[in-house]
Amino acid sequence: MDSIPSPFLEPGDRTKVGSLAIVSLARDDFDAIRLEKSSGAVDGYAEGAVLNTRFGSFPHSTLLDIPWGSQVRASAVDTGSRGRKRRLETTDDDTPAVSQDESRKTPAKKATVASSGFIYILRPSPELWTSSLPHRTQVVYTPDYSYILQRIRARPGTRIIEAGAGSGSFSHASARAVYNGYPKSETDIKGKVFSFEFNEDRFHKMTEEIESHSLTGIVQIQHRDVYRDGFMVDGKSPNATAVFLDLPAPWKALQHLSRRGSSSPLDPKQSVHICTFSPCIEQVSRTVTELRTLGWTDVDMVEISQKRLNVTRERVGVNLPNERGNSQTPADVLEAITKLRKVNQQNKQFQKAQLAQNNGATADAMDVDSSAAASAPARASDGKEKTTPDEDHDKPWMQGRLIHRSEGDLKTHTSYLVFAVLPPEWTEEDEERALAKWPCGRESKIIGNVDKQARKKEKREQLESRSKKRKAKSELVDSQTKKAKSNDTQAETESAPATE
Ligand SMILES: C[S@@+](CC[C@H](N)C(=O)[O-])C[C@H]1O[C@@H](n2cnc3c(N)ncnc32)[C@H](O)[C@@H]1O
Repeated sequence: MDSIPSPFLEPGDRTKVGSLAIVSLARDDFDAIRLEKSSGAVDGYAEGAVLNTRFGSFPHSTLLDIPWGSQVRASAVDTGSRGRKRRLETTDDDTPAVSQDESRKTPAKKATVASSGFIYILRPSPELWTSSLPHRTQVVYTPDYSYILQRIRARPGTRIIEAGAGSGSFSHASARAVYNGYPKSETDIKGKVFSFEFNEDRFHKMTEEIESHSLTGIVQIQHRDVYRDGFMVDGKSPNATAVFLDLPAPWKALQHLSRRGSSSPLDPKQSVHICTFSPCIEQVSRTVTELRTLGWTDVDMVEISQKRLNVTRERVGVNLPNERGNSQTPADVLEAITKLRKVNQQNKQFQKAQLAQNNGATADAMDVDSSAAASAPARASDGKEKTTPDEDHDKPWMQGRLIHRSEGDLKTHTSYLVFAVLPPEWTEEDEERALAKWPCGRESKIIGNVDKQARKKEKREQLESRSKKRKAKSELVDSQTKKAKSNDTQAETESAPATE
């Protein structure tokens, strides 16, 4: 059983050594990395393990032990030994070569901040994994799987069957949905995903990923042709109540999802919810026919079409009340000079900050945007920001009209989702138990078969009978009290001494 909780399920507050992390390079551009602690140079970098991006180089030391979501600035990395290593590989035998082991003996150098750019370091989630995973197949994207998981009633404790596993996008999302703790033993029944994959390479890759993401107790993957061999695991039933089939021919697997026979992979006591994911309507048609034949009910089909709205400011007509076209040019000479002065001042402040950093920057200051701090507005003695009246107007993000456009190109694999429900098997005993509880055929009346007047009369009679009962009860109590009193008086008289 896993000792470290999965970063997808319990990521903690800060990044740590060995943890999977998602690096955000730009909107919709994510990379997954594993954070390393280096004791010396790695791959020729004096700072140890380094992530290289188009926004600069990021030694892992600057990404460790910081809150998830931090912005991290690039570092000026020392590639000296990297260059040497390359050269040494091509030198003649007389030149002594510096081995990787030797370079590791020198302690890793502290990183110094560079001006090239920044990234965000994000905690792994199934959504980010879907955007950054190495694709082996077409995958199920977030708009689809979030809907599918709620329709098949996936919640903490649910046991899901999934086939095929493919690139593991759905497996990660469903693992989080069903997670209610790691099983402590074989008999400890927890929420689980039973995943099946036919392709051997994909099966091995998925097994590796599940292990390295510490999901072993939550996702169990089998190398299997489910059309032929079904969904039993080591001869036992997964007792599933939810099924997701992303297969080329889902109808071929449905025969194994029956309650009949001794080897059903389904929970015998509960309804089972299924979803199949197919890109063609012909596939849907065959699946629906097979579902109906096998007794599935509530069959319906859905296609998810999600649009993202992009909200921006339109800068056309800025400063011009009549919207006379794109006004990137200043309105008058005074505005031009004011803007120019401001840009010059910002440049000076940026250069001053760079100089200060080069003279004494530390790796601890990596996630602090010091140029922003240097250019921050001056503060008055009461701590409030000093702002000039037109400062808010000058802010580029405040200029222009707020508009929105829908983005049609949202990443999603358009497919038809077929849903159905298989009710629990209904035996003779169940029928008898239900009849005993809710006697059928011996009803004295049917709800809704009387008119308003008759219902009023019924109610009146009911109330009268209740008040009569109450009256009779209170009369009974009165007579009993009187009787008791007269008995007491008689007893007292009989026991009193006789007087002359
Ligand atoms: C589209 S991919 C699934 C993608 C996955 N749902 C995801 O989100 O990453 C379909 C997978 O089904 C697998 N497959 C096809 N026929 C199969 C079968 N008979 N038994 C098990 N897996 C099968 C394929 O090898 C492929 O990896």
